[in-house]
Amino acid sequence: MPQPDSPSTLALSTDARSWWRTGVVYQVYPRSFQDTNGDGVGDLFGITARLDHLVALGVDAVWISPFYRSPMKDFGYDVSDYCDVDPVFGTLADFDTLLAAAHGKGLRVIVDWVPNHSSDQHPWFQASRSSRTDPRRDWYVWRDGRPDGSPPNNWLAVFGGPSWTFDPATSQYYLHSFLPEQPDLNWRNPHLRRAMLDTLRFWLERGVDGFRIDVAHVLMKDPELRDNPPASQGRAAFHKDMGAYGSQVHVHDRNHPDVHGVYREIRALLDSYSAAQPRTSVGEIHLFDLADWASFYGKDLDELHLPFNFSLLKVPWDAAAVRRAVDEIEAAVPPGAWPNWVLGNHDEPRIATRIGPAAARAAMLLLLTLRGTPTLYYGDELGMEDVPIPEALVQDPFGKRVPGRGLGRDPERTPMQWDAGPNAGFTDPGVTPWLPLAADAASRNVAVQQTRPESILALTGRLLAARRARPALHRGDYRPLGGAPAGVFSFYRSQGGERLLVLVNFRPAAVEVALPAGARSVVVSTHPAAALPAAGAPLLLRPDEAMVVELSAG
Ligand code: GLC
Ligand code: CA
Repeated sequence: MPQPDSPSTLALSTDARSWWRTGVVYQVYPRSFQDTNGDGVGDLFGITARLDHLVALGVDAVWISPFYRSPMKDFGYDVSDYCDVDPVFGTLADFDTLLAAAHGKGLRVIVDWVPNHSSDQHPWFQASRSSRTDPRRDWYVWRDGRPDGSPPNNWLAVFGGPSWTFDPATSQYYLHSFLPEQPDLNWRNPHLRRAMLDTLRFWLERGVDGFRIDVAHVLMKDPELRDNPPASQGRAAFHKDMGAYGSQVHVHDRNHPDVHGVYREIRALLDSYSAAQPRTSVGEIHLFDLADWASFYGKDLDELHLPFNFSLLKVPWDAAAVRRAVDEIEAAVPPGAWPNWVLGNHDEPRIATRIGPAAARAAMLLLLTLRGTPTLYYGDELGMEDVPIPEALVQDPFGKRVPGRGLGRDPERTPMQWDAGPNAGFTDPGVTPWLPLAADAASRNVAVQQTRPESILALTGRLLAARRARPALHRGDYRPLGGAPAGVFSFYRSQGGERLLVLVNFRPAAVEVALPAGARSVVVSTHPAAALPAAGAPLLLRPDEAMVVELSAG
């Protein structure tokens, strides 16, 4: 059993305590990583079997998307038991095996936690909907309709339609910010609150190293349930076209200031389990007002360790735009807090599809050299691209319910490409995987790229090795370089006597860059043959090239 905080905390080195700052996180979408029992769906044994890939790559932690009991209406983000493993993924014992194996290899494990809503099949909701007087009634948000019978207010669900569904059994509406099968939990009810914190304890006591908190900004709503105002034309509050959901300003249906009390409580809980094993929290925060976003670190840095920073999902691949986004985040992160960066996840189009395969290499270098914890989405180390899904095979409810806007998330969730064999090694030969494999799986896979120094897999490995070896990269300062030519974003990373310069060419055209004095050597480049010019001569960055240059101590 973990001990409460004690002086032994001090025995841990600063490095061990701050692994979530210096380390790199790799996200596994468990349905799509490795199937071991031939049902075409990835499972926990599959992740255990593939841990060596993560070790060889050189990441520090794995975040696993939900594997809890679930009717899978939203593929695990609809949880019917927070403290058990869904049979499609295995058993609790399989999870313990995975955790022990990961720890044995020096990898930390972050599990997903879905506190905003449960499944409608969760026994709590079953009880809640059974009668208006059930003790669990108030664990969810129930309201009468308006006098004309319409929903209590104008709130809209992210996945289409109103966020209220009428339940004839008790003649009231219940709130759901996502699918009707994902009723929102009522965090204002102290019993619910305690029960949910107990689910955190359950996983902390099993030994997990942290939580990724699903839609962390949505938990607390306006207690008066006031209508949202309409959004003015051209307002860009989202990073993509959200359909009707984007027609409102979401001031009342999420991010009520009371949410911060929840995270202070969660942080205190995590801290109480962190003496011998430092635990972390990463919150999914889709807020692009950066002061709002930064507030999730907490006034006294007593809330989330890392509120996910999705700003790179919002900007075009353009040097000036990316530099502005980076500088805005650097300015918004409170003193003493730590940034983080994301280029993709299970909800977003793949980076290689968004910006093209050549630029994706430069993007990988950027992700792994910025100041802050990077999270790498499985398959991006291969340059995997979105896979077009024929209509008959579409799985994702988002794409089905809000069609025609490219919001379906299946294309970025296709099976990991391990080798050139049948089903790319993801599942047994002859089995149909739950989503189709990419057409290029026979050539774009781990086995092939491992043998090729020019592959993006080898590049990612070199970047991760450089990042691990160099304090300037994993914990150093960030300072943008002024006067870089158009199309180039360049910045310094420094720590102690170590000084590095990162150069990223955002354009598919060569460009000359004047190097500062003291350029000593190329640490790593997206181009295998990169070398420095003679002293004083400009550096020629090739099309889409990015590199890290070591400078003499200044
Ligand atoms: C988050 C998850 C997404 C899920 C949604 C509802 O945005 O990342 O996959 O559908 O929450 O839980
Ligand atoms: Ca399986």
